Order: sequence, then C-alpha cells, then structure tokens
Amino acid sequence: MQDRKTGIVEDFDDATEIFAEWKPSERFAGIFGKSVAEALKPLKAKNRINVLEVGCGHGTWLGYLDRMGISKKISYVGIDFSRKRIEAAKKIFKKNKNANFFAADYLEFQDSKKYDIVLFIEVFQYVDKKDFGKFLEKAKIMLGKNGCVVVIDKDKYSVHSLKISLGKFFKKLPHYYRHVRYPSFSCLERLAKVYGLKPVKRLKAKEFSAIILKN
Ligand SMILES: C[S@@+](CC[C@H](N)C(=O)[O-])C[C@H]1O[C@@H](n2cnc3c(N)ncnc32)[C@H](O)[C@@H]1O
Repeated sequence: MQDRKTGIVEDFDDATEIFAEWKPSERFAGIFGKSVAEALKPLKAKNRINVLEVGCGHGTWLGYLDRMGISKKISYVGIDFSRKRIEAAKKIFKKNKNANFFAADYLEFQDSKKYDIVLFIEVFQYVDKKDFGKFLEKAKIMLGKNGCVVVIDKDKYSVHSLKISLGKFFKKLPHYYRHVRYPSFSCLERLAKVYGLKPVKRLKAKEFSAIILKN
C-alpha cells in the first residue's frame, strides 16, 4: 500500500496547475497579515528578517509579504516536498532576488541559518500527529533570538473540520482531501511548550485558527 507521504506528494504534484490558480479568501489573508504583524513585533530593530516558509506551495504567502510592504527587509526561503509546486514557485518569483525555493521534506531539510519567522500555513493538516513534536522541535532549533513560529490552519475541533469529515465520508470532496487531518491547536500549544516555544497569541477568523509561538 502507498504510504501517506508518497500519496500527499503525488496529489500535490498532480494538482499543481489547479493550485497555482488558487487565491486565499480575504479572511485567510487577514489572519495571515495579523499573525505576521504579531511575529514582527519583537523584531522591529532588525534590518533583515529571515523567513522560512515550510510547505510553501507555489509561494502564495511570499506574494502577501510583498503586499505588506516588508519585502525589502525580507530574505525568504520556501520549501515544499512537491517538486512540481516548487518549479511553479520558481517561475512565478524568478525576478525576486531575496527569495529561494527548495524541493525538500522539512524533516530532512538541512540548514544552519537561523530564522526570525518560520511559517506553517495549512501544513499541519498534512502532518501525522506523531510528528508534531518533531516539527516543533526542529523549528525551535532553526529559530534565532526573538524568532517566532506562525501556524495557521483549521482546528480539529471546529465546525469546518466536522464538515470536511462528513464530506470525506460521503465522498463529496476532491480526492486530494483524502489526507487532510486537521490538528488540535490545544495539542500544538501543549507540545510547543514541551519544546521550549512560548505561545504568545492565538487568533481566530471563522474557520481559521492561528498561533504565534515565540522562541
Ligand atoms: C495545503 S498546501 C498549503 C500551501 C501553502 N502553505 C499555502 O497556504 O498556499 C500544503 C503544502 O504543504 C506541503 N507539505 C506538507 N508536508 C510537508 C513536508 N513535510 N515538507 C515539505 N512540504 C510539505 C505540501 O506539499 C503542500 O504544498
């Protein structure tokens, strides 16, 4: 039987063109902007902000960092284990000299650089619960002083999550939903503390939840 990771990579490789057309809703962009603004607060004195986006897809959120008017300060690295999505991102942002994209599995990604912000936007829904600790532990190692992790996703205990479970059960959703399992934000916060990350803010915008975890 195909393992879960292979299935996720295949689904995202296959759907690269569909996802390249995707744009976040106003609500999603709003919670992203508020979360990043919160993560930037302790970094005001810095001239250069190193951002790592895990599971960056075709680079949607780099586009939004540009729109926030902070792109000149930002040095961005995006990684995704879908090679095709990374190829798409490289094409879209080929003129951006402050952005680099790599096809890599986060848990195998080697980088000695320290980051100020590590973003996980709708990525934990593809992570096995048994790996949550590993993800947070690695983020802690990659963060510099005053650095923050930003997680945005849908909470396991939300109406949206229930609707998706029903949609999957009745086979009403596109096949690439088959691997979606939303994380519990309470569980993420509890684990973050175990790995030395301090939850400083929890935000909510309808179906979206966000947490900011400080080093
Ligand atoms: C729902 S998409 C979100 C993409 C992007 N963050 C956005 O919001 O537009 C999840 C992405 O995470 C990637 N991903 C999931 N687990 C990963 C891992 N362990 N390492 C790298 N990428 C991963 C998938 O390939 C996919 O592109």
